[in-house]
Amino acid sequence: MQRLQKVLAAAGVASRRKAEEYIAEGRVTVNGEVITQMGYQVSPHDEILVDGEPIKREEKVYFLLNKPKHTLSAASDDRGRKTVVDCLEDVDARVFPVGRLDYDTTGLLLLTNDGEFANKMMHPSSHLPKTYEVTVEGVITEKMVKMMERGIMLDDGKTLPAEVFVLQQSVKKNRTVLEITIFEGRNRQVRRMMEYFHCEVKSLNRICYGFLDLGNLQRGQYRKLRMYEVRKLMEMADDQASVPEMLRR
Ligand code: URA
Repeated sequence: MQRLQKVLAAAGVASRRKAEEYIAEGRVTVNGEVITQMGYQVSPHDEILVDGEPIKREEKVYFLLNKPKHTLSAASDDRGRKTVVDCLEDVDARVFPVGRLDYDTTGLLLLTNDGEFANKMMHPSSHLPKTYEVTVEGVITEKMVKMMERGIMLDDGKTLPAEVFVLQQSVKKNRTVLEITIFEGRNRQVRRMMEYFHCEVKSLNRICYGFLDLGNLQRGQYRKLRMYEVRKLMEMADDQASVPEMLRR
């Protein structure tokens, strides 16, 4: 459900403020009824007319981007930095990123114009798995792996159990490459988990989100999600069964 004035603005009828004026003036009907109440909630299936003309509601679109480094997870930037929305060159719809990856983080990022979908993906109860390949300066020991698998105390509370695999390690070069799957989405979580062990992150790449992976997409490339993929993500976010056994203990 969305506020009527927001839907009118998104359909390009007028700015949000002008749309509020139209509503107050009684020029807007929803399913044949004049609505003057501000903040009235409408669903995608409601028929909305302005001055008797149906509005064109923006089709919902969903994209998977392989985010390059040095791009901002935002729709725009007042400092002129390139954003992830700028990466979707051929897309006219007003999309925004689902959550965020840091400026230096690469990898799988979803973008959409569907606020309800985005909220569902980002809701703390969704527990969607997100997998990162992370290269750190330092040696991550078996003991540290076990700690992350149980949860470690960060400044905003204990992390949920993570799945952690050491992919490569060189004591001589003081380097470790890990694959970490987390089931929550706190700000800068993986970097803060590494800081906990005094390990500096050299690169961070998200390789999976829910059941999606990057496939053949190169950095900066993107593709449309298929409807079954969108549906499956929504089901996963809803489905308590997708919460791994270890989180339910
Ligand atoms: N964790 C981080 O620390 N940064 C990201 O961009 C994503 C997850």
